[in-house]
Amino acid sequence: MLMINLDSSGLKITLEEYERITELIYKRTGIRFEPNKMYFVAKRIEKRVEALNMSSVKEYIRYLYFIDKDGTEFQNLVELLTINETYFFRDFPQLKTFAEYCLPEVAERKAKAGDRSITLWSVGCSTGEEPYTLAIIIREMLDNLDSWSINILAVDIDTDALEKAKTGIYDERSVKYVPLEYIEKYFKILNDGRYKISEEIKSMVSFSYLNIGDRLALRRYRGFDFIFCRNVFIYFDDISRKQVVDHFYIALNRGGYIFLGSSESLNRITNAFKLKRMGGNLVYVKE
Ligand SMILES: C[S@@+](CC[C@H](N)C(=O)[O-])C[C@H]1O[C@@H](n2cnc3c(N)ncnc32)[C@H](O)[C@@H]1O
Repeated sequence: MLMINLDSSGLKITLEEYERITELIYKRTGIRFEPNKMYFVAKRIEKRVEALNMSSVKEYIRYLYFIDKDGTEFQNLVELLTINETYFFRDFPQLKTFAEYCLPEVAERKAKAGDRSITLWSVGCSTGEEPYTLAIIIREMLDNLDSWSINILAVDIDTDALEKAKTGIYDERSVKYVPLEYIEKYFKILNDGRYKISEEIKSMVSFSYLNIGDRLALRRYRGFDFIFCRNVFIYFDDISRKQVVDHFYIALNRGGYIFLGSSESLNRITNAFKLKRMGGNLVYVKE
């Protein structure tokens, strides 16, 4: 029988137990952990089993399936399993295309139609670097910013990451790619050497919890000019990606753009969006 012995605690997890837990995660979040991720996942299950003073994974499974009615423990587990890696100005070339081509185009079209509002959705925003980057870009790129209503909604399944995002305080690693000029303009360097995002940027972003694997919850979101869902689909399989992307199509306004991570594409998932080359980059637009 395939089994992992977790040496630190003496706990054992069988492939069958692993599959029961990862199946539950898949059903509720769309995140699929294949057997090759067994050690990574098992180490985190071990942490939760210890935190709850349980003596076996079997007991933990029973707890997850039958006792954890409000999903608190499920959330604790998911928080250990999500990868929050992010930083300001991640994928600079893509952001340049957004800033220099897509944003001006959408702004001009909307202004002509008498609509001076732009709504952005940062899905899987982690600790906030992505939506704050978008806010900085918008401040830099839009003329007469005060005449616009800008709304950046940032969502994530990880409530710890969202709490950190709301504080807006970052270490050196997060701001490594921020142009110096913007560091001076939009950050305050604290006594301990960390960087605090300015209030003008902070006030442009609102954060909330959303599990994009929860189809009912997802359906409430629509009316966006831009959707950024970058580096979120890493553990999603094609079926759950498609469910989310189909909703993105509905949630996006006509003429709106969707941005994925540099190694992600919508090939195999949908052909609803038009792939367009702009500023040397490929972008997806809803025509
Ligand atoms: C690697 S980070 C990417 C952060 C940012 N978008 C970037 O590209 O730098 C992936 C984020 O997706 C979030 N995530 C994973 N599954 C999710 C789900 N089902 N619903 C909402 N957020 C999810 C994770 O919590 C994590 O913060």
